[in-house]
Amino acid sequence: MQAISFKRYGGPEVLELGEWPDPQPGPHQLLIAVQAASVGPGDCKLRAGRLQAQHPIALPKIPGRSGAGVVVACGPGVTYARSGLRVAFLARHSEPGSAAQFIVRGPEQIVALPPSLDERAASAVVQPALCALIALDEVAGLKPGQSVLIHGGAGAIGGQAVLWARHCGARVVATARAAKADYLRSLGAAAVLCHDREDFSATPERFDVVLDTIGGETHARSYRVLRPGGTLVCLNALPFVDQGAQFGVRTVVAAIDETAERLRRVIALVAEGVFKAQVAAVLPLADCAEAHRRIEAGTQGCGRIVLAVP
Ligand SMILES: NC(=O)c1ccc[n+]([C@@H]2O[C@H](COP(=O)([O-])OP(=O)(O)OC[C@H]3O[C@@H](n4cnc5c(N)ncnc54)[C@H](OP(=O)(O)O)[C@@H]3O)[C@@H](O)[C@H]2O)c1
Repeated sequence: MQAISFKRYGGPEVLELGEWPDPQPGPHQLLIAVQAASVGPGDCKLRAGRLQAQHPIALPKIPGRSGAGVVVACGPGVTYARSGLRVAFLARHSEPGSAAQFIVRGPEQIVALPPSLDERAASAVVQPALCALIALDEVAGLKPGQSVLIHGGAGAIGGQAVLWARHCGARVVATARAAKADYLRSLGAAAVLCHDREDFSATPERFDVVLDTIGGETHARSYRVLRPGGTLVCLNALPFVDQGAQFGVRTVVAAIDETAERLRRVIALVAEGVFKAQVAAVLPLADCAEAHRRIEAGTQGCGRIVLAVP
């Protein structure tokens, strides 16, 4: 099969398209013909060698945390799926990834797609929506009538978080660069604080929840805009210092762990129209390095870049 891989850590130029042996499904596993593979900042960090402590990997490595395709073969004992089933899937950073023509997955890492959801859209929406749901629902417990500030609202996770928060009946304010403010309002943000024009922490508004997808200085300034007793829910991005006790708020890092149950919940919410795929661009598999370059330059647009797999 054809796959993108890197043999050493480095810049996007270490990504190469090459021939790999076709993987074979073991007991209770599926062979999936990948049609779409998403590219996110985690893939860039892994390729650059910045996640070696958290995610030790074997090189060469096929990147790609998520994707979608069609089941083409079932290993012995499979009763939960059949050939021809359209699925979305996730792959941990330590496993062979989605930037390949085939991948083997088990029952916990796949979810069947509804007819209304195509593979490119599925590959763009599943992982960001999963992160948004874990962070805002499971961790922060966002409720109707509460207010939430979502950092990086035009990003893949931020966009799904805006959609979820609106669905919850919360007041949503998001941060993004000014050029993306209209996009965020179209998703349902009541206001946008433009990080290239203003200091978001100068706002007089106080929030019940802040979703921090950025870390670092953005994290540090977020304490000032939380109500006492509020929640600062964080994803692993730039390092930060927990000042929750000093400000009387709860700081929690959301652990992103995919389970079949969570994936089914995400897909049901996509089918209901709560989560909506935000596809920043579709590039051919061979242009994976270009996708990494755009993400690292901050020019990827709004949502997720998707690779079309031949
Ligand atoms: N296990 C985990 O904890 C976990 C899981 C998934 C993701 N993550 C991390 O979460 C972060 C977000 O992921 P993602 O997939 O949503 O990334 P993404 O799609 O690349 O979006 C990031 C967004 O942040 C915005 N941004 C950059 N600097 C900003 C600032 N100072 N203030 C506000 N917005 C800013 C960018 O847009 P602008 O053009 O508006 O600047 C961009 O839209 C990444 O660091 C990722 O690695 C962690």
